[in-house]
Amino acid sequence: MPAVSCSAPGKVILCGEHAVVYGTPAIALPVFQVATTVKIIAKPIAEPGTVLIKAPSISLDDSLAALDKKNPLRAAVELIMQELGIHHLPACEILIHTTLPVSAGLGSSASVTVALARAISTYLGHPFHDETVNQITYEIEKLHHGSPSGIDNTVITYGTPVYFQRGKPMEYPKIARSFTLIIADTGIKGSTAEAVAGVRKCWEADKNSYETIFTEIGLITQRIRCNLESGNIESIGVELTHNHVLLKHIGVSNSKLDQLVNAAIQAGAWGAKLSGGGLGGNMIALVDPDLAPQIAQELIDRGAAQTIIATIPASSGERL
Ligand code: MEV
Repeated sequence: MPAVSCSAPGKVILCGEHAVVYGTPAIALPVFQVATTVKIIAKPIAEPGTVLIKAPSISLDDSLAALDKKNPLRAAVELIMQELGIHHLPACEILIHTTLPVSAGLGSSASVTVALARAISTYLGHPFHDETVNQITYEIEKLHHGSPSGIDNTVITYGTPVYFQRGKPMEYPKIARSFTLIIADTGIKGSTAEAVAGVRKCWEADKNSYETIFTEIGLITQRIRCNLESGNIESIGVELTHNHVLLKHIGVSNSKLDQLVNAAIQAGAWGAKLSGGGLGGNMIALVDPDLAPQIAQELIDRGAAQTIIATIPASSGERL
């Protein structure tokens, strides 16, 4: 069998994270400057059923059978086999290469599962439809993050901007004008599972206050969608910064994120916020494209571990 290779992008949440877990809308964007590639190579001389799994970014080099049954990679392969109606894979090596930092809010876990589901199903001659990839990835996201909303698997599977609300059909927001984001890494790992669990604990202790904040975040998301549709990009900045303040109130920011958000605004960004689970990971800044290189440099000077300048293209809001 020839080797098969499939990829999946990363993502950022433009607005609405955390509140989205409680049913309000959020907008997420794929990020193609980072990606996961899964390559499957046949090992015809190995004993049947031998599956080796290598993921250098997490120093993994082992046989699939040696991984704990609860290991999300093993669970993903088993779920993919179940969906394909098979009990064993032909002897092979699964090579996972990702440029996504782990625990950085860029969707590394979902990106790996999407690429894995596509690669294994293609290798066996039955490539999954996106809906199946999305469903499998959502199940595995639960192992990683506890009670995810489903936004990460959705944006990474479909590879297009999504307006996502739990329990409702996914929508593709129209983007009237392209815009530029700087994605800046704090260099601090932030566990989404921990962040989501922390918010849940506080919500249980004070539902009224938390739900008021979630509602406000949902309204920000709706206003941002209107501004994306009308091409009023600059005015999205102030909404992003307001979203950051609310995320800070619910306890998912930290001093490095706040510092980088302030640094971006002082350097001329239209607005900035943490993105994803928080407690570390990445922040995003909405910027004039002409100023992007200089603001990105300022963020490095003020302590960002690395930056990505991402252009989000205009789109019609129709699924291609
Ligand atoms: C993580 O990228 C986004 C969160 O809202 C969690 C989720 O929606 O599952 C923090």
